[in-house]
Amino acid sequence: MKTRNQKLKESYDETPYISQPIQDSHPAHLQAVCQLVGLKTPDYRKAKVLEIGCSLGGNIIPMAMYNPNMNIIGIDISSVQINEGNKVIESVGLTNIKLIEQDISTYDVPENHFDYIICHGVFSWVPNEVRESILQVIQKGLKDDGVAYVSYNTYPGWKEKEIYRDAMMFAAQKGQNNEEKYRLAMDVIDFIDKNRIKNSFSKCLGVDESYIKNKDQKFYVIHDFLSSYNTPFYFKDFINLCTKNNLKYICESEIGLHFKKRYIFDNYFEKTNNVLYDDVIEQEQLKDFITNTSFRKTIITKSTNLSKYNINYSNLLEIDMLNSLFILKGDESVIEEWKTIFVKNEVDRKIFEFILEKINDHGAVVKEMINEYKNIYSDDSIHCLYRIIIDFIIVNAIKIFPYEILEKKSVYC
Ligand SMILES: C[S@@+](CC[C@H](N)C(=O)[O-])C[C@H]1O[C@@H](n2cnc3c(N)ncnc32)[C@H](O)[C@@H]1O
Repeated sequence: MKTRNQKLKESYDETPYISQPIQDSHPAHLQAVCQLVGLKTPDYRKAKVLEIGCSLGGNIIPMAMYNPNMNIIGIDISSVQINEGNKVIESVGLTNIKLIEQDISTYDVPENHFDYIICHGVFSWVPNEVRESILQVIQKGLKDDGVAYVSYNTYPGWKEKEIYRDAMMFAAQKGQNNEEKYRLAMDVIDFIDKNRIKNSFSKCLGVDESYIKNKDQKFYVIHDFLSSYNTPFYFKDFINLCTKNNLKYICESEIGLHFKKRYIFDNYFEKTNNVLYDDVIEQEQLKDFITNTSFRKTIITKSTNLSKYNINYSNLLEIDMLNSLFILKGDESVIEEWKTIFVKNEVDRKIFEFILEKINDHGAVVKEMINEYKNIYSDDSIHCLYRIIIDFIIVNAIKIFPYEILEKKSVYC
């Protein structure tokens, strides 16, 4: 009889998952975010990196190209995906990356070896025992000052989406292969859409709706909505699993999750100071209830990592910290939303446009941006520029990467 892992392997062999670069999982970004919360992590430029469930290597092959001193290993259970990825690596001639066909459950990870471990889009999509293995591999394989990035579906956001998933699974059960299952599932989605009764079946899929209906995303529907395994977690339960495996929480890779948009848009200072719980895990869980979070990208480390860190708005106010960052444009819709709400006068508009122009194509180094701004405008609006950069980081309108690795800090404002 086929094991559950064999069946999963066959499903990914039949329909490969088209992996792509995930900015939030990049060790450079992880290092910048950890720097923001005051945690020193290994230099990403010469890091040893492991990706668990790397698929075709779409996330780590570009990483290896742009960071020749990184040493990267990707493992995945699907031979078809690994072979495809290795063909690309060979054709480009990369020597700092290896993709290995390997079930994570039987992976003998070298102890204390990796600076960064990435596990994107895998944790919720495998059986329980594989999840255990993932956390054990992270615990054993990470260096003491290393960090891991794990993304997973979360409740309560997925409670609504599960209505759709259940309907799609119900429709797909008669399908003999992934193609047939997909067709049956999309038929039922169309049918539900056309026959939706007002107020009974609300916009469950939300932003996912157009994505799911896009035929180019067939692989996503097959492996996300139609997979035998799609287990969302309450954040607190995910953290409990980590604790059992001697791992602990640092923060979210999408740093804005700590300062949810709604907090920001109605005066986050008041709201974040007025918290119900002292414990950071309880605070985070509460935020997920308030904002109906359906996905998290969480950074964890070994419980034995004794370095101090703190998810705190005031960390963002350190001028050396901000100056040391390289920033790239993030979520366009948030930028637009921010503009409508916050751009109230000419100074705001001037700064808003200045930032957008700088980060538009290739991103910018904050320190250089600040100097350029000072050269153009000799007024004291530089404080507003810093303020808007901070707000943009928080709302995910810009993504951050380290330009300099910081040793000492001085405080802004
Ligand atoms: C949803 S895909 C995500 C792929 C990629 N990380 C991404 O986000 O684009 C899940 C991946 O996990 C791999 N996988 C599933 N079970 C596994 C196991 N036991 N060991 C290693 N890889 C596994 C699958 O082959 C697949 O490539």
